[in-house]
Amino acid sequence: PDSPVVLGIESSCDETGAGLVRDGVLLGQAVASSMDEHARFGGVVPEIAARAHVHAVAPVVTEALARAGLTLADVGAVAVTSGPGLSGALQVGVAAAKSYAFSLGVPLYGVHHLAGHVAAAGLHGGPLPNPCVVLIVSGGHTSLLLVRDLARDPITHLGDTLDDAAGECFDKVARILGLPYPGGPAIDRAARTGDRKAVRFPRPLTRAQDAPYAFSFSGLKTAAARWVEAQQTPHVPDAAAALQEAVADVLTRKAVRACTDHGITTLVVVGGVAANSRVRELAERRCASAGITLRVPPPGLCTDNGAMIAAIGDLLVRAGAEPAPAELSVDPSAPL
Ligand code: KG4
Ligand code: ZN
Repeated sequence: PDSPVVLGIESSCDETGAGLVRDGVLLGQAVASSMDEHARFGGVVPEIAARAHVHAVAPVVTEALARAGLTLADVGAVAVTSGPGLSGALQVGVAAAKSYAFSLGVPLYGVHHLAGHVAAAGLHGGPLPNPCVVLIVSGGHTSLLLVRDLARDPITHLGDTLDDAAGECFDKVARILGLPYPGGPAIDRAARTGDRKAVRFPRPLTRAQDAPYAFSFSGLKTAAARWVEAQQTPHVPDAAAALQEAVADVLTRKAVRACTDHGITTLVVVGGVAANSRVRELAERRCASAGITLRVPPPGLCTDNGAMIAAIGDLLVRAGAEPAPAELSVDPSAPL
């Protein structure tokens, strides 16, 4: 009756991740990042990312196994991100996962990157309840999802960003403010000494009755750029705090509304931006006053990693899902 140890491999962007999960329990994980190699370009360079994955994937798998006190012989299934993401980067992970699965003679599962982000929340504080509302906020995505059963039912999209992702907004405004890449953590740090009421940035789409769960962040970026231009010497911490406040306000307000509108009592917040201190703070406060249980995984499970892919793989294996065909290919723009 024992379920197998699932090895998860993630390589959709600039993080090479490997994780090992069995029965909803994280046994070990390791992540290598090519972030530093992209920093001077101000964003992820696909070719550099792909090459970095080639170097990192085997060492990261070895490291995750060592941390779990396991060897390859203990692996009973392999899960890998097949999309969405950068094509070349995804191909490295998929090729590696196929090699491991084929040489070990174990099933292979191609999984959706976002389903992995959701599943990661189940690795901390017990399995996710069904149903739940999930706010996914990263550099590439800003979506509100209704999850009924992650392993069995398709995820329902309640709303998405109409333009930039929230993380992208942080990254772009950070650049305008002269802060380093990636911008989200830099803005979070700078905001600590700033006054979030110093500037009132817009709260896009909060009054849009026909789009209660849609987001828009490109106007916020423009508003920040205009404000910076109008200043003699822009006060960076104030701008960072005010921007962070606007983003956190919109994200948490809409997420809580999605829960109350659908009669759902658990909100899960995942993705890189879930690491933001103000997003966490406002989500906690607003969920508490609405009687909603908030689940935010620790930062190491929020950003891209292999454990989240092992986590969704583990759910699929235990639900008896069909493994991927041997010719599994990448789907860079995979829909949910
Ligand atoms: O989930 P993730 O690691 O990668 C994907 O985009 O899939 O998310 C990365 C994004 C970046 O835009 C980064 O600036 C943002 O998450 N981020 C943050 C924080 N930490 C990471 N944004 C705001 N505050 C943070 N503390
Ligand atoms: Zn991600």
